[in-house]
Amino acid sequence: MLKISSISLSGGQGKSSLVLFLAKKLASKGHSALAIDADPQHSLSTYLDEEIENGQASFLEFLKGEKPENCIIPVDNVENLYLLPASDELEVANEYLATSGFGALVLKNRLSVLDKDFDFCLIDSPPQKSQLTKTAIGAADYLLIPAEVTAKGVGSLQRSLEAIEELKLSGVVNNELLGVLPFRDRWFGHHRSKEGQACIEAMKELAGEKYVLPSVRESEQFKKAINQQRTLEELGYAELAYPFDVLVEKLAKTIE
Ligand SMILES: Nc1ncnc2c1ncn2[C@@H]1O[C@H](COP(=O)(O)OP(=O)(O)O)[C@@H](O)[C@H]1O
Ligand SMILES: [Mg+2]
Repeated sequence: MLKISSISLSGGQGKSSLVLFLAKKLASKGHSALAIDADPQHSLSTYLDEEIENGQASFLEFLKGEKPENCIIPVDNVENLYLLPASDELEVANEYLATSGFGALVLKNRLSVLDKDFDFCLIDSPPQKSQLTKTAIGAADYLLIPAEVTAKGVGSLQRSLEAIEELKLSGVVNNELLGVLPFRDRWFGHHRSKEGQACIEAMKELAGEKYVLPSVRESEQFKKAINQQRTLEELGYAELAYPFDVLVEKLAKTIE
């Protein structure tokens, strides 16, 4: 099971959208995928229409040692896709992780029992530099950093790269950057906006040109796909999913 975490230290950068569209795309290509909602705001669980019921075990219980089969649910109407959902109570995991020794390695250790059960594991993370974010980084073989094509997005990318570097320097975390995904990129006809152009250049400077992936265009169709629980392909906008096609291809190569 290849583990990939979606990391960025601000809200609205596309973390949850990235996990949603990539997980569905991998599943549609026949790869079994486990999506993990590690954000107490549980956007990913909401996007997948899997709000958890009272008393149902979720990601928090999984972290604390509950059996995976009691926490993981199949996503309705999406073959090959499974979810470890988040609950409102997930916030307390930050305390649990802080007091459990190597907090950054707790998720990695817990996931080792699932190594043979799924091809891919995609982890959505919170927007702060919390213990949950650290354990999401620590669990990953590869990191993806989505960043809005705005000055705020560039700042978020910079802080995310610094936080990852800091964890790596501590010696317990060892993973690779898979890519930076420019998010909500505005084009006018055949041209990117001037501001957008400058932001993409800044992203290349910060992360290295080869790491900056094809961008996700700003489009209402993504919101529609999220809100209606449909894919871009089903809506007739397969071309908008191009950045995810590129990612699936990259990932398929790494597991060959
Ligand atoms: N391509 C897109 N164009 C415009 N809006 C988008 C696009 N993709 C997602 N969104 C919207 O952007 C918002 C933030 O995305 P989200 O993935 O939840 O960010 P994060 O998880 O980093 O907080 C959501 O409301 C989502 O509906
Ligand atoms: Mg989110």
